[in-house]
Amino acid sequence: MHLITGATGNVGRHIVEGLLAAGAGVRASSRNPATAELPAGVDIVASQTDSPAFAGVVGAFLNPAAVHDTADRLLAQASAAGVRRIVLLSSSSVLDDHPDNHTGIAHRDLEQRIERSGLEWTFLRAGMFAANTRQWAARIRADHIIHAAYTSAAIAPIHERDLAAAAVRALLTDDLLHQSPVLTGPELITQADQAKLIGDIIGKPVRLEETDARTAREHMIAQRMPPEIADSLLRYYERAITQPIEPTPISTDLTRQQPRTYRQWVLEHAADFR
Ligand SMILES: NC(=O)c1ccc[n+]([C@@H]2O[C@H](COP(=O)([O-])OP(=O)(O)OC[C@H]3O[C@@H](n4cnc5c(N)ncnc54)[C@H](OP(=O)(O)O)[C@@H]3O)[C@@H](O)[C@H]2O)c1
Repeated sequence: MHLITGATGNVGRHIVEGLLAAGAGVRASSRNPATAELPAGVDIVASQTDSPAFAGVVGAFLNPAAVHDTADRLLAQASAAGVRRIVLLSSSSVLDDHPDNHTGIAHRDLEQRIERSGLEWTFLRAGMFAANTRQWAARIRADHIIHAAYTSAAIAPIHERDLAAAAVRALLTDDLLHQSPVLTGPELITQADQAKLIGDIIGKPVRLEETDARTAREHMIAQRMPPEIADSLLRYYERAITQPIEPTPISTDLTRQQPRTYRQWVLEHAADFR
């Protein structure tokens, strides 16, 4: 049995699918088990409960979005229940040592707590998610005009299914044991080209207007993005200009699949932008 936190989210749903496909038992935690809509056969538990979600669990996937301030309690419960391994959805921002890099500092702090727990671990240090461009969906649907800063910064967005595939490998095999790979998509692309690609695929041109970082931040927050996430994304783009990103996709040996491109992600999510 494996416990997946954040199981209803971008990455978590694909981990659940991947584990079930591999024949593994899955327990999933959600704040709203009744509306979680997870596949049959998944044992769904309420994330807020103190009940022993770890009974019979050998490996757990921790998503900081879902566990943030409960991480210490979860790690203590996991150790006490005999869980062997923690796979953390971490962030490549841990490698940015700027003092204002709050997201990176928070993820590194979580990594260190896990190291101290004595449990086996894998830290999946994800780069920018392809799914982040969903922040543009409402504006593209409304008037096809979006705003962004650092539009020429080239990033290598990762498809959430590839991250999930890496998490499944890390839970079910020793291939990534005590490793902290930086994971990106396979290809560099600028925000300008991401917007153009979305327009090409939905059949209506998308106009990307370059703004300063402050205005871009306001637009992101207006799309209900938490301010700390907006800050972290802007910092990532700014840094990509001075320190170009080298794509480090998950190896096909691990996932048995070619890493998915941003184009594939848009084709799968085109309906969100129409
Ligand atoms: N976005 C990026 O570019 C990026 C890059 C590197 C690393 N990351 C890491 O990836 C995480 C996001 O992963 P994701 O996109 O798969 O997550 P997500 O879809 O945003 O959230 C996963 C699940 O967590 C639960 N959740 C969300 N907000 C919560 C809250 N405030 N309190 C408790 N539970 C909450 C929700 O499940 P229920 O409603 O079912 O409880 C949600 O479905 C980030 O937090 C960061 O740690 C992101």
